[in-house]
Amino acid sequence: MPAELSPIDTAKFTAARRAVDFVQDGMKLGLGTGSTAAWMVRCLAERVREEGLRVQGVPTSTRTAELARDLGIPVVTLDEAKWLDLTIDGADEFDADFNLIKGGGAALLQEKIVATASDRMIVIADAAKEVAQLGAFPLPVEVIPFGWQSTKLLIEETLVGMDVLDRQVTLRMSGDAPLLTDERNYILDLHLKRIGEPRQLAMTLNQIAGVVENGLFIDICDMVVVGHGDGRVTVRDLQAGLAEDGRVNLDDARNIFADLGE
Ligand code: A5P
Repeated sequence: MPAELSPIDTAKFTAARRAVDFVQDGMKLGLGTGSTAAWMVRCLAERVREEGLRVQGVPTSTRTAELARDLGIPVVTLDEAKWLDLTIDGADEFDADFNLIKGGGAALLQEKIVATASDRMIVIADAAKEVAQLGAFPLPVEVIPFGWQSTKLLIEETLVGMDVLDRQVTLRMSGDAPLLTDERNYILDLHLKRIGEPRQLAMTLNQIAGVVENGLFIDICDMVVVGHGDGRVTVRDLQAGLAEDGRVNLDDARNIFADLGE
């Protein structure tokens, strides 16, 4: 581990560390994808190792599955688990109603399936992810490769009738080739700048034949844990309407890396 974590990594660690406090013995857990979720997997592994916490993890990507297995978290498929107690995942943006944009890491399909098969979803994020209105982050839409250019045209046409500020649609690439998701689909990124009606947009996009799923998570997230670069953390519960401030011991990050030999 570098001598000092950057403020952004500290914020991600802080959110992740606080969120794993909500994990209880025996839980079936959805394990998110991305750099913040990777911190959560490390913090969870620490509790498994140190406290003998028994959990089953359902990863939302091959990357997360590898990390969880490497760190000794028992991994099962969603079909084996069927229903989960809790999913903890990152987000690209969240608003005051806890609606999200996800999919910056191209894992939105499995992430949405896993989150909606859970009693509760906790989002872990640094403070920069909070927005007054969704849409500055390009909205990822997973499409099947067959006829993707026609699907793109249909999406562009659909956007004309939507309350958005811009309407550029780009195919996500990995080097010279289209990026392939874990389900071997493509990602179209919708550069909208502002999404006026996220619920309507989410439903409309999913009506288009070649669209598999979109990265708008509406009414799925129950709690947001926001981490800051100095170890402060805020837990916000949507239903309870509560916000609770706390602080995470930053030495824990160092210990976790030392224990993992990283
Ligand atoms: C993965 O597809 C995404 O939904 C991630 O959860 C999101 O991009 C957040 O990633 P970071 O934690 O790396 O910012």
